[in-house]
Amino acid sequence: MIATNTSSRPKTSLIPKSPRDSYWITTFGCQMNKADSERMAGILEEMGYHEAKTELEADLVLYNTCTIRDNAEQKVYSYLGRQAKRKQTSPHLKLIVAGCVAQQEGEALLRRVPEIDLVMGPQHANRLETLLRQVDNGQQVLATEEDHIHEDLTTARRDSTICAWVNVIYGCNERCTYCVVPSVRGKEQSRYPEAIRAEIEKLALLGYKEITLLGQNIDAYGRDLPGITKQGRRQNTFTDLLHYIHDVEGIERIRFATSHPRYFTSRLIKACSELQKVCEHFHIPFQSGDNEILRSMARGYTIERYMRIIKQIRQLIPHASISADVIVAFPGETTQQFQKTLSVIEEVGFDQVNTAAYSPRPHTPAANWPNQLPEAVKIERLQELNALVEKTAKQRNSRYKHHVEEVLAEDINPKNQNQLMGRTRTNRLTFFPKEGPLGYRYKPGDIVSVEIKEVRSFSLSGIPLR
Ligand code: SAH
Ligand code: SF4
Ligand code: F3S
Repeated sequence: MIATNTSSRPKTSLIPKSPRDSYWITTFGCQMNKADSERMAGILEEMGYHEAKTELEADLVLYNTCTIRDNAEQKVYSYLGRQAKRKQTSPHLKLIVAGCVAQQEGEALLRRVPEIDLVMGPQHANRLETLLRQVDNGQQVLATEEDHIHEDLTTARRDSTICAWVNVIYGCNERCTYCVVPSVRGKEQSRYPEAIRAEIEKLALLGYKEITLLGQNIDAYGRDLPGITKQGRRQNTFTDLLHYIHDVEGIERIRFATSHPRYFTSRLIKACSELQKVCEHFHIPFQSGDNEILRSMARGYTIERYMRIIKQIRQLIPHASISADVIVAFPGETTQQFQKTLSVIEEVGFDQVNTAAYSPRPHTPAANWPNQLPEAVKIERLQELNALVEKTAKQRNSRYKHHVEEVLAEDINPKNQNQLMGRTRTNRLTFFPKEGPLGYRYKPGDIVSVEIKEVRSFSLSGIPLR
């Protein structure tokens, strides 16, 4: 921990927090950041802060940042510029940068934007209160050292009252040559199964119906826990965890992300097909359809292995939805290699694919390779890929038409108060009227059988059966 008093910056912190103070959190990036933000909001509310109506009137502004690609990182600086300016006229404003840019840039961020009060890496999210106390003592605080993530003793202020994120493993021990995550999220730290189950039981008591178990590489779960073996097999795998938490009463649905093709097992697919609450949706990034590119990405699998996984899923759970992440224009990628990625998209028929052009990241090996591709090639390949993804996803989506899907209502549709919105087990956003044809009135938390009438690229609409 570095705590400094720099004379160049306005002395925010010497103005003590008043009970009327409000906070604003903007979250960038992935589900891990969303989960961290909910925990940090919980800490702030326990400290007496309340949520501000707008960012510009908040007394404390926290950016939970992402640096997966350059454009994600740059976005943060433009947001910060605005707040730094505001601080010149509102010196009581507390400005906090958390998350992955905070970890990556550390002290450089404090130098670049001296108005910032606190820079804190993702491993410090649960320590927000302690860090803020130091800010209140007039210090500018930097918390980016490698830390053991303390079991979460705080109550998260969750955005939903129906669905909740549950971290099961933090960090990542892989070394994909393009990826900044291991350097900003640190080493793998699995939570104990008992702690995870206790959190889920608590959520069930609060009325939550769905949980999503989170990890950057969820299949790595347990490999850092004390090795308990039974008949020569490790007992703390992710599949074991699914079995262990499955019967928590009140929880109706279990999801998880992200799966890694290198560690994904047949045993896991089998468990998903047998455990009734585990939803039929798999997010398994493949990144490239070419084995040579996969090798230079250090992904540790071949595309043949990936296709075998898909085949096994389709055999055991035919209606499962499958989504993936793909990178185009990785250093050295030839047109033929790119074509192989397109072929995988055609062959698998994904429900959804997150696509991105390769972006060189600090402290990653691939960023220093000489065979970087020009911007124009990146744009061209990304457009071609996106067009194909849209086409195949549309075809795949059409299977929902006239089907009856089980939808967990999550909320009122903000654009139409007479409708509820929720998701199918396969993770499709679905809208339907609050009142069924037989006069039943539905509310968030209900599981409703909905006949799908309309299919769009990203959502469905239908009518409840009853
Ligand atoms: N842990 C997950 C991915 C986390 S990052 C996995 O192993 O698949 C989310 C996605 O961002 C990645 O799947 C990848 O497709 C993309 N991504 C990561 N680094 C990138 C980079 N340098 N340039 C472009 N896309 C990147
Ligand atoms: Fe990044 Fe690879 Fe870890 Fe995923 S598995 S977070 S892509 S290093
Ligand atoms: Fe971004 Fe950090 Fe997630 S870099 S994708 S917020 S782990």
